[in-house]
This record gives sequence, structure tokens and C-alpha cells, in this order.
Amino acid sequence: MSAAREHFGSRLGFILAAAGSAVGIGNLVAFPVAATKSGGGAFLLVYALFVILICLPVMMAELALGRHTDKDPVGAYRTLSGGSKLWQIPGWLALITPFMIAVFYLVVTVWVLGYLVETLGGNLDRLATEAYFNQFINSPSVFVYLIALMLLINGILALGVKDGIERAAKTLMPMLFAILIGLVAFVLTKENAILGVQYYLIPDFSKLTPDVLSSAMAQAFFSLSLGMGILITYGSYMESHQSIPGSAKVVALTDTMVAFTAGLLILPTIFHFNPQIDPTELSDSSAGMIFLFLPKIFLALQDSIGYVGASAFAAVFFFLVLVAAITSLVSIIEVPVATLRDERGMDRRKAIYTVGAVQVVLAAFCAVSFGMVQWFTEFVTLAGANKSFFDLVEIIFYDTILPLNGLLVCLFVIYRWKKANFDQELQDGAPGFAGSFSQRYVNFALGTFIPVFLLLIFINTVALKFFGISFF
Ligand code: PHE
Repeated sequence: MSAAREHFGSRLGFILAAAGSAVGIGNLVAFPVAATKSGGGAFLLVYALFVILICLPVMMAELALGRHTDKDPVGAYRTLSGGSKLWQIPGWLALITPFMIAVFYLVVTVWVLGYLVETLGGNLDRLATEAYFNQFINSPSVFVYLIALMLLINGILALGVKDGIERAAKTLMPMLFAILIGLVAFVLTKENAILGVQYYLIPDFSKLTPDVLSSAMAQAFFSLSLGMGILITYGSYMESHQSIPGSAKVVALTDTMVAFTAGLLILPTIFHFNPQIDPTELSDSSAGMIFLFLPKIFLALQDSIGYVGASAFAAVFFFLVLVAAITSLVSIIEVPVATLRDERGMDRRKAIYTVGAVQVVLAAFCAVSFGMVQWFTEFVTLAGANKSFFDLVEIIFYDTILPLNGLLVCLFVIYRWKKANFDQELQDGAPGFAGSFSQRYVNFALGTFIPVFLLLIFINTVALKFFGISFF
């Protein structure tokens, strides 16, 4: 298969596709809220340090694994595992994890699409009522949106790496940057907006508790699409003369800048609505913010720009989130598609139909776990609380397995594939990297404290989510 492997057409194409993967719902909503609640500028600083010191080396490791083997995650681990069955487990995890994360992410994206359509239909006032969300997510229309979304994403994937993934990223990402900057520029002219900026940026180091640090780390990891096999897969579509360290830095910077800029949109909008607000009371969940809180704020804009203006603002915002989510979904669904092609020799279209069919069914199970079907709504009891099927998928794959996958990538690259081979791969396309301080740092960090750090996060999450034990 590898002879016919498609590659990204240009370095920019790769960077935009990887940034498209990285920039998602998490950047636009979860990041600004977490930053505001957890120490403002102090959180931003710690987050930036996590990105540079921990996430960047992991990103390089994943890209190098993919590019060296020219394979999907399962194939990449198999090729370099030297026959060890045990070392093939991380490959399978790097396949199942994106598959399942895509399932719950699809459902949230379906809701965003629904809210966009409703807003365009003139119903922002309805969206701003508390009861609407529950009513909407339990309505049959979610299945229609789910099918529409799957057709769109699989349509992009069907066109291939260059004409599908890369072209979509080249169109959608500049659009996303422009919309985001446009919304920020608009909202900063509004009354009290500056109070939001202040609240967002003023550092409060006393808020940096171990709990905050661990969630900042998890957030950075998720935001950069690490631990999901995505960068192994995208690495396999990279040309060997392109610099991995250089490209990884640009992707990480773009992702972090978008997250930072989103804060300059969300906080000023909230403070314009209510300058007295206590942001520490904002919901931790992106879904809570997007579907319950923000619609009320958007509606309140009608006092200054009228109902149509407020609806237009809301629609542009939902569209922005939708675009970010679509480019992330494209990247994550590409992982199982690549595996079916590389490992089973399936052709691209057949792989897409197969993955798509299973994902629609699982996403439907998630979609009905908010009351439509009791069995899925009260699927299991974890640490004494009822969890739905949707919750369970999120807890297992996003909260728990993600850091585990990161940990396994580090150990595999340094101790199984071996430092020297990894170094050799990084030097292809980046001759200056050899012998540099960055190279020594990346090697050292990946073999020592990064896996330890990820292990602690993994243990803490298992204790908390499955046994209700909190160490902090
Ligand atoms: N970086 C994405 C986000 O912040 C994470 C993600 C990637 C989610 C790919 C799903 C698919 O939302």
C-alpha cells in the first residue's frame, strides 16, 4: 500500500490540516473559561509552558513515528515493535481512542449545527431559554443533523488527503481566523468589554492548585490532538524533507493563539452583558457554555444591535465553532480510515463507509443518552453516580485513555524504537536540529519526566472518575 500513499501537497497544507485538527471546540470555549476561572494570566503562562515543555516533544514523537513508518498508528507500532505483541497494544489504543472520541465529539457538533440552523431560522430567542436545550437534544431532528454532518465529513475524506483534507483545511482555516478576528474586533468596541479583557489577563497565582495544573495539562494535551493517533496518521502523510520540529512549533503556536484569541471574544462578550458577573460561576463544560449560557448573552446583544444583529452575531459564532469542529472531526475520523486501508488493504471509499456506518450507530447511542432511551441514559454507575453512555465514552476515552496513550508514545519512542532512530527521523528536513539544545531537551524529557507526569495524571483520573477518590 505504501507505494501509493498520498501525501500533503505542501508544508502549508500540512500545517493548516494539523492546526485544523488542533483547533476545536475546546479552544473556542473550554480554554477561555478555564483560564478565567483558574488564575487568568497565571493560567495562560502555565498553559504555554505545558505546551512548550511537554506537548511539543510528544507532538514531535507522534509525527516522527508516522512519517518514519508511513503508516497508520496500528501499523506504525507494529512495524517498530520488533515482534513484541505487548508493544502493539498502544497501536490499537491509538485506533480505538480516536474512534470513540469522534463519537462523542460528533454529538456535540450535531448540536452546534442544530443551533446554527435554529439561529438562522430566527429562533435565537427560543435558544436563550433554559428548557430549550433539553428539548432540542431529545428531538428527532438530531438524527437528521447527524446524517448531514456525517455526509459532509465523509465527503471531505472521500476526496483524499490532498484534495479533501488539505483543501478543506486551506479553505476553512483562513476563514476561521478571519471570523474569529472579526468577532473580537466587533465585541471589543462594546461597552464594558475591556473589563472582560482585564479579568481574562490579570494573573492570580494563588489559583494554581494541583487540580488546576492537572486540568491545564489535560486541556493542552487534548487541544493539540495528542494521544489520538491523529498526528501519527498525519505524520505519515508528511514529506520527509519537511521539518518536523519546525512544523510542530507552528501548529502548537497557531492552536494556542486561537485559544488565547477566543478568550478575547468570550470574556468581553460576557462582561458586556453583565459587568458585575462573577466568572468563577461559569460552567466548566463547553456544552454548558455553548448551549445554555452563551445564547442568553447573544440575545442580550439585541439591546444594542437589534434582534437581527444579535442573531447574526450568534450565527457567525456557531458557524465558527462548527468549522473548528469539522476540521477536527475530519482528522480524527481519518485515523480509523487509514487503519482500514493500511492494515486491511480496503479502498478509501469502502473504509469510509465502514467507519461511518459504525460511528453513526454509536453516535446515535450517545445522542439518545440524554433521556430519549432510559437504558443509555442510566448506562452505568461509576463512583456512586449514574453515568450515561455518552458520559462513559467521554470518561473512558477522553479523560482516562488520552494521557495513557501519551505516556505510551513517549516510552515507545525512546525505549523501544530508540532515541538514535527518533533523532535520525527528526533530523530529516531539520538538519539544524541535530545536536541542538532543543534536541537534547526533547530526548531527555520524553524519556523521563513527561511520562511520569502523564502517569500521575492517569492515576489521578482513574482514582477520581472510577473510585471517587481525590488526591488533591
Ligand atoms: N483539538 C481538538 C479540540 O480542541 C481536539 C480534537 C481533535 C477533538 C480532533 C476531536 C477531534 O476540540
